Amino acid sequence: MTSPLNVVILAAGKGTRMKSELPKVLHPLAGRSLIGHVLAAADSLRPERVCVVYGHGGEVLPKAVDRTDIAWVLQQPQLGTGHAVQQAMPHVDTGGNVLILYGDVPLIRPETLQEMVLIAGEGALALLTVKLDDPSGYGRIVRNPRGQVERIVEHKDASPEELAIHEVNTGIMCLSGAKLAGWLARLTNANAQGEYYLTDVIAMAAAEGEHILPCHPASEWEVLGVNSRAQLAGLERRLQASLAEVLMAEGVTLIDPARLDVRGSLNCGRDCLIDVNCIFEGRVVLGDNVRVGANSVLKDVEIGNGVEIKPFCHIDGARIGAEAIIGPYARLRPGTELAEAAHIGNFVELKNAQVGFNSKINHLSYVGDATVGRKVNIGAGTITCNYDGANKHRTVIEDEAFIGSDTQLVAPVTVGKGATLGAGTTLTKDAPPGQLTLSRAKQLTLPGWQRPVKKPK
Ligand code: UD1
Ligand code: CA
Repeated sequence: MTSPLNVVILAAGKGTRMKSELPKVLHPLAGRSLIGHVLAAADSLRPERVCVVYGHGGEVLPKAVDRTDIAWVLQQPQLGTGHAVQQAMPHVDTGGNVLILYGDVPLIRPETLQEMVLIAGEGALALLTVKLDDPSGYGRIVRNPRGQVERIVEHKDASPEELAIHEVNTGIMCLSGAKLAGWLARLTNANAQGEYYLTDVIAMAAAEGEHILPCHPASEWEVLGVNSRAQLAGLERRLQASLAEVLMAEGVTLIDPARLDVRGSLNCGRDCLIDVNCIFEGRVVLGDNVRVGANSVLKDVEIGNGVEIKPFCHIDGARIGAEAIIGPYARLRPGTELAEAAHIGNFVELKNAQVGFNSKINHLSYVGDATVGRKVNIGAGTITCNYDGANKHRTVIEDEAFIGSDTQLVAPVTVGKGATLGAGTTLTKDAPPGQLTLSRAKQLTLPGWQRPVKKPK
């Protein structure tokens, strides 16, 4: 039987160097907060309990994360990492193991944590360490002559010999809850920083003959923390680079993997091509042979096979049928549904509009709260007047209708099947099917009219 797992996430630090009103762990990385990444990694282990120690920024953090299955513990004042874990202990099931994570170390991989949980499950203390070319600032791992971990010494407390050690403490560990409780109770703050160091439990464990097993992350960036905006940007680039690698390995052509940002999930079919500077947010699904033009932003969209999105499109909350052509410069807002082979051209805005098979809205139009049938042609500058200042109304345009340019459709209004609207029409009543409807002042020419001429001075 495996023992229950508790996860304790430390997130009470100030984050002074972010120079931000927002608590550090709420800053976004690839579209998700730092702590959101850590919580996702924790969740993947199916822990019995998750406890977050917070402090700076007050209730902003629990409110923003908004999860009632988490035990939130306020640490005030913040007297060090050992003190922080002490605050969490009343919420820990000491019959199980405790995994300690950090709200500002977002890229830790579930696989790494899984290994540590297994080690602790076998009765050892799993300690995640890494060798750094430049270990300065970190706690150093001091080993005995037999190579066993003996203790951790913080940079500020270290001797010159200890400072020369390159193996550092990441802070992440997994150990028995009962033993941890005992060691934490014995911590003192007799050190350079006057803090209760969590790291001091390692020396206590070693002294008691505890089996301490150092583990290592697959790559250094898993354990990098965020203390500044520059470090945040650095992690963002690393994460984006690895997401781009995965996409390319899955068969997606990225014109430049360094100029792609995925801030959610992006699933692609076969032979998709993504040009430079595209941003994908929320949940985006591309079918086979989809081309996404440069500088496009796609959020929560599903795109069918063979769709071409030309450059500079903004698509949010839409479903796009196969073989549709969109853009350049199109804006598709939530509730847009395009059937197969629809064409949406430049400077066209759609909102809550369903557009049927092979219909075309190619230039400078706004179509909102509308149902557009099959093979409809909507001319340049057409506008659905869907809002009367208080309520929204629908426009229905039936199959094969032809809407002349510069037409206003004052909703609620219906254009019948195969109807034609003359250019410049302001349609306020339903247009019957199959006929020409127009509203337009009669054109006239004044015979003998002459242009005014300048008076001589
Ligand atoms: C800590 C470790 C050090 C390790 C380094 C890795 C200790 C004593 N030292 O040092 O060995 O190499 O992390 O980055 O543990 N926090 C609280 N409450 C507190 C203090 C800290 O929640 O009272 C949280 C912070 O928000 C942060 C984390 O704990 O997420 C680490 O705190 P920090 O002050 O950055 O520790 P370091 O001095 O970097
Ligand atoms: Ca730190």
